[in-house]
Amino acid sequence: MPKILDGVAIASAIKQEVAEEVRALAALGIRPGLAAVLVGRVPASEIYVRSKVQACAELGLYSDLISPPESVTTEEMLDLVAALNSRDDIDGILIQLPLPKQVDAKQLLDAVSPDKDVDGFHPVNAGRLQAGRPALAPCTPAGVIEILKRSDLPISGQQAVVVGRSDIVGKPVAMLLLNENATVTICHSKTRDLGAVTREADILVAAIGRAGFITPDMVKPGATIIDVGINRLSTREDVDRFFAGDMKREATFLRRGSTIVGDVHPKAFELAGAYTPVPGGVGPLTIAMLMANTVRAAKMRRGL
Ligand SMILES: NC(=O)c1ccc[n+]([C@@H]2O[C@H](COP(=O)([O-])OP(=O)(O)OC[C@H]3O[C@@H](n4cnc5c(N)ncnc54)[C@H](OP(=O)(O)O)[C@@H]3O)[C@@H](O)[C@H]2O)c1
Repeated sequence: MPKILDGVAIASAIKQEVAEEVRALAALGIRPGLAAVLVGRVPASEIYVRSKVQACAELGLYSDLISPPESVTTEEMLDLVAALNSRDDIDGILIQLPLPKQVDAKQLLDAVSPDKDVDGFHPVNAGRLQAGRPALAPCTPAGVIEILKRSDLPISGQQAVVVGRSDIVGKPVAMLLLNENATVTICHSKTRDLGAVTREADILVAAIGRAGFITPDMVKPGATIIDVGINRLSTREDVDRFFAGDMKREATFLRRGSTIVGDVHPKAFELAGAYTPVPGGVGPLTIAMLMANTVRAAKMRRGL
């Protein structure tokens, strides 16, 4: 039976450690602070930002939720970021994506001070990560490494295959695995004979954004499968395609009108030695690592 890697439990352990660090910093008169910038009214973004602010409150971090109107300009956003960069009570700046079309997202993310870039998206942090220097690493990729380490799964010397090369997930997760001494292959939409490559993986990371894309024939038996994908299924056909006969999924679909599946086909998990389920695998780590990054940024900024 494959081992199910419980992201909820791992995220909860990380959050407890963060809360302890926050208490230790409080004794020194320091309260790490996160500014969350949420532009306009995108329902999914509102939910994400609300849970980030709530996590701050639970763990004792200060948070400031800033909500510019949908009509905000790039210049106004740049002024806001400049103000946050110089505020002493703010250690981390989070700009919730997506931004409205008129805002130049790249220019804005580049304007965030690398030392407050708790999302780890700034080119300076990408460069530090690549150079193996202390860096604020993107939260979801950092969470992948935490899952592997805290589950005592070896990384060093393993063949790791990452499917996906986005700046947010694929590239940084590959770099983190490399820094942990895995032998890393990065695949993407132009990779020839993808299955032949993924079948070599001891650690297979799927960050593609396509429902159930990794099928059983693409997996080496006994591999560790990390499924980063989150894909919503909202039609009966789609749900049956992946979860026919699964009573729990059926109940979720009937209750909510949708359910989610990762980038790995549920049948492929049956071959794994260990795997992260969707939901409840990688997902919960993202906020936990955001909290950890904010505390880390607070300490780094003060030379602690
Ligand atoms: N908290 C979380 O758990 C979390 C956080 C972030 C993202 N996600 C999820 O992770 C998934 C990936 O996100 P992302 O932001 O990295 O997506 P993305 O920016 O759309 O990147 C997708 C990557 O998959 C590759 N790809 C697409 N079709 C492919 C194919 N047929 N064969 C091989 N590679 C293919 C693309 O290759 P090209 O570069 O060649 O186009 C691209 O590099 C999504 O489901 C997203 O919702 C989850």
